[in-house]
Amino acid sequence: MLTVKDDQFMLNGQPFQILSGSIHYFRVPQEYWEDRLIKLKNCGFNTVETYIPWNFHEPKKGQFHFEGMADIEQFIATAESLGLYIILRPAPYICAEWEFGGLPAWLLKDRNMALRCADPNFLKHIEDYYDVLLPKLVPHLITNGGNVFALQIENEYGAYGNDKQYLERTREIYKEKGIDVLLFTSDGPDMIEDGSLPDVLTTLNFGSRVEDSYAMLDAYKPNSPKLCAEFWIGWFDSWGKEHHTRDPKDAAATLRAMLEKGGSVNFYMFHGGTNFAFYNGANQYETYDPTITSYDYDSLLTESSEITEKYREVQKVLKEFVTIPEPVEPPTIPILPEQKVQLDRSVSLFDTLTTIANHHKHVVPMSMEEMDQAYGYVLYRTTIDRKADMVMDTSMIRDRAFLYINGEYVQTVYRNDEKKEITLSFPEEINMLEIFVENMGRVNYGKHLRDRKGIIENLWIDNQYMFHWEMFSIELDEVVLDFSRATTERFPQFYEGTFELTETGDTFINMEGWKKGNVFINGFNLGRYWEIGPQKTLYLPAPFLNVGENTIQILELEGTKQQEVHFANKPDLG
Ligand code: GLA
Repeated sequence: MLTVKDDQFMLNGQPFQILSGSIHYFRVPQEYWEDRLIKLKNCGFNTVETYIPWNFHEPKKGQFHFEGMADIEQFIATAESLGLYIILRPAPYICAEWEFGGLPAWLLKDRNMALRCADPNFLKHIEDYYDVLLPKLVPHLITNGGNVFALQIENEYGAYGNDKQYLERTREIYKEKGIDVLLFTSDGPDMIEDGSLPDVLTTLNFGSRVEDSYAMLDAYKPNSPKLCAEFWIGWFDSWGKEHHTRDPKDAAATLRAMLEKGGSVNFYMFHGGTNFAFYNGANQYETYDPTITSYDYDSLLTESSEITEKYREVQKVLKEFVTIPEPVEPPTIPILPEQKVQLDRSVSLFDTLTTIANHHKHVVPMSMEEMDQAYGYVLYRTTIDRKADMVMDTSMIRDRAFLYINGEYVQTVYRNDEKKEITLSFPEEINMLEIFVENMGRVNYGKHLRDRKGIIENLWIDNQYMFHWEMFSIELDEVVLDFSRATTERFPQFYEGTFELTETGDTFINMEGWKKGNVFINGFNLGRYWEIGPQKTLYLPAPFLNVGENTIQILELEGTKQQEVHFANKPDLG
């Protein structure tokens, strides 16, 4: 069992230094968990850490998902079989650049419920989820013969709220449901007071300034062990911004400074993985900045598991402090030969609405959450019965939308536009106004966390609300297309093609010539692409491919002349 004695961690009575790395099972195909974990162990780590995202496991209220990439027990078992210890962070809020910080979108249907505090409704939803999740974790606790030796309460709560009752209650829920291992909170050094509980281990999240961070912990809780629960050795990227990297030697030097002082560490990230499907989060400070599909994070293993210079630099430092066991040979992962793949069928989204959308009618526009839709797109439609120029307030549209009048595209509006009032010209006595809205990822941190999507309040157009709307909710869990009804060239358009493989392998889809949208491989949503970068390729791991026939589908939102994509043999993250 892991315990704390003065400023030391003790494992089964012996002093222990936690050398941990983060790997998020939900960002890696399950066939590759073993590969990533073997490389973690070979590098010299003794522990793996993962968050557990609530929205991945309970996508709709009461519907639970623990299969495939969501098979947390299998991930734990794989780590156990390699002799690694495990830290779990069910939180239930995880931040992590993950959609809504891991909270399920359906929580937002109740406009009155407060998040991340002791609102009884919020707590009840947590309990319902933990009733299903925690019994799966309990057999893996170190106290029950497993390798899970610590769990986190909430996540950087000091950077969100002041409700200690809530922190206490989440701790009690763990206890009531059989979690009897070491518990901890984690926060940036200047926020530990607000995020901590007096008798629960306080840990620190930082990327540099080891001494200052330790000093802040000493000032707050003297003589406690130093665990950097998130050692930021790289960083995530946002669309339209630069690609982040961190110097390997600098990261290694900071690690050495921690280990020399007897500190324990969890690398955030050891291996970042991918924000598949619609699971990227977003940040909002000055502007709304959605996170890209790759979560490479400039970590020790690349998104496709290549060993980096940073891995080797870190390994050198770890070798100074611990004996690294004989390396285990990881499985070989082949790379596909470079090739072009044709997409020879296409259909406008407007022509295949019946196969991809759920239809709703309501007097006011419904937000996504009101339609029980978590992710994707919504097409809104209403009638404007006036021949006039009209001024529309766009501030209720989340996040990015294309406007069409009588079937003709007129303009794009985006949440970051400074000008929130636009003039629309309606040429006929009776006009059809269509607004196609993309949810680009809910904010995962800070005061804009409550981030409802679609059209979130009725639109104010020329000093009036417009009533009577039709909504087409497009979640794309399955992409079934009807090519027989292609009547219009209007974008968004779906493209589809098939290709044969004699062997599978990892590849990187280069999206040059395509503007913005999503790629689906054999029905699996690989994630978003956007020509503004920084990322230019999408990682396609071999397990999503078949020997024999494969289908690729692309939803291109804006327009392209391309009819093919290039499978490259290396990534381009900008
Ligand atoms: C914080 C959060 C993490 C992650 C990092 C940045 O420390 O706790 O979940 O968002 O920032 O990558």
